[in-house]
Amino acid sequence: MPAGTFHILTFGCQMNVNDSLWLARSLRRLGFVETPLEHAEVTILNTCSVREKPEQKVYSALGRIRHATRGTPGAFAVVAGCVAQQIGAGFFERFPQVRLVVGSDGIAMAPQAIARLCDDPNLRLDYTLFSESYPERDPALSGAPGETPGPIAYVNIMQGCDNFCAYCIVPYTRGRQKSRATGAILDECRAALDNGAKEITLLGQNVNAFGLDAHGDPGVSFPGLLRQAAALPGLERLRFVTPHPKDFSPETTALFADLPVLCPRLHLPLQAGSDAVLTRMRRRYDRAGYLRLVEELRRARPDLALSTDIIVGFPGESEADFQETLDMLDAAGFMSSFSFVYSDRPGTKASRFPDKIPPEVKAERLDRLQERQEILSEQWLAGMVGRETTVLLEGPSRKADLPPVAPETDSPKSPSTALTGENKSESWQGRDPWGDAVNVRLPKGVGAPGMLLPVRLTAAKRHSLLAEPVKPLDQGEKP
Ligand code: SAH
Ligand code: SF4
Ligand code: F3S
Repeated sequence: MPAGTFHILTFGCQMNVNDSLWLARSLRRLGFVETPLEHAEVTILNTCSVREKPEQKVYSALGRIRHATRGTPGAFAVVAGCVAQQIGAGFFERFPQVRLVVGSDGIAMAPQAIARLCDDPNLRLDYTLFSESYPERDPALSGAPGETPGPIAYVNIMQGCDNFCAYCIVPYTRGRQKSRATGAILDECRAALDNGAKEITLLGQNVNAFGLDAHGDPGVSFPGLLRQAAALPGLERLRFVTPHPKDFSPETTALFADLPVLCPRLHLPLQAGSDAVLTRMRRRYDRAGYLRLVEELRRARPDLALSTDIIVGFPGESEADFQETLDMLDAAGFMSSFSFVYSDRPGTKASRFPDKIPPEVKAERLDRLQERQEILSEQWLAGMVGRETTVLLEGPSRKADLPPVAPETDSPKSPSTALTGENKSESWQGRDPWGDAVNVRLPKGVGAPGMLLPVRLTAAKRHSLLAEPVKPLDQGEKP
């Protein structure tokens, strides 16, 4: 008899995705069984509050959940994550089916709380207090055998943020920065590697400020942690997200030259290209400083792929300010960017700024920015064609955007001539070291998740690349 049935819906960043994966493992360990939403006694909404839209999604999702689970006796909802932290017990009044709100630091206690709620239908619990230290969770559940399949693992190295950028709600929803103990981080990395992971991404809201708060191990800096992680046996690729330009030390920059497993890809949020806007955003770097850092990074790693986050329409942003942001796309050479229109977040400094930008101006600027980025992204992908590299295979391709299997009359030099028909090959997706999505067609039975396949990049699609194995492969043969 299962302890109960559950379903998790996740919004927001990779930290939320990671939290949801841990929660699911933990609930399964307690005897809960994951089901489709309609049959779930417990529905967990892991929420994001970073912009207005994802917050609104939470309220509409709660309506949908109530409708979908109305036939399930005793069904209730749990709100976790950043909106839970923001609204707290306010959820109990507005949405009676919510019986647990659990904030960023409370996730560690959520499984036991859910079990209690199942036993006592009259109980409601509010777990939104911040803890003093990094809220360590049951380590046995991190990368437990058979429970985190897939070659890519994400490992938290910190919680929260101390930066208080003027637009951002994260320091309020995730609390002050708390670095995690190095031993716990490395143990989780080792467990993931033992369990088949080949690539690890170290996660946090401001990763390169790791060790600068009073909570981690004294004396271990971010570059120190990167060195230790890079030395773990079995690790093929190391990444981290998200760093802040103001905390980028020369020692970390140098690691892009020194550590072969550190991938040549960096997500470095710019937010705006105008110094006046950057100052009002409280970002604590300027345009010239950002470009200097990019230059140093490219000196360390000439093939570095740089991506970024940009906000358009920050209060007071003039057309000239916006032009400076637009210019930065080219000046920094971003191969990809996530761009957002500014939205007011409760409690933030910018929400009280006057001179808000009208929605239609914000939307029009976003269009122009994305148009320019689209061209740069296409140029980047086109520039990759012809390179030999490796692809870490993740799974069979979802989209059929691969060329048809080569006919038998194809040039004898083409590796795909080993294939004689659709049914003898299958397409796989993965990423190259620069983080590009790559599709590659392989003879059936050759590909496997976690395989590091030497390939030649052969063509650029709109948002991905096509590749072929460097060495022709026959069915049953391993590269
Ligand atoms: N800690 C990371 C990510 C923070 S949230 C960092 O510092 O970069 C992810 C992105 O959401 C931010 O980089 C920013 O571009 C965007 N964002 C945050 N607050 C926003 C707001 N109020 N309006 C629009 N975009 C916002
Ligand atoms: Fe928000 Fe700034 Fe912290 Fe990033 S660094 S989470 S944008 S406050
Ligand atoms: Fe969203 Fe919270 Fe992540 S606000 S972006 S889920 S830190």
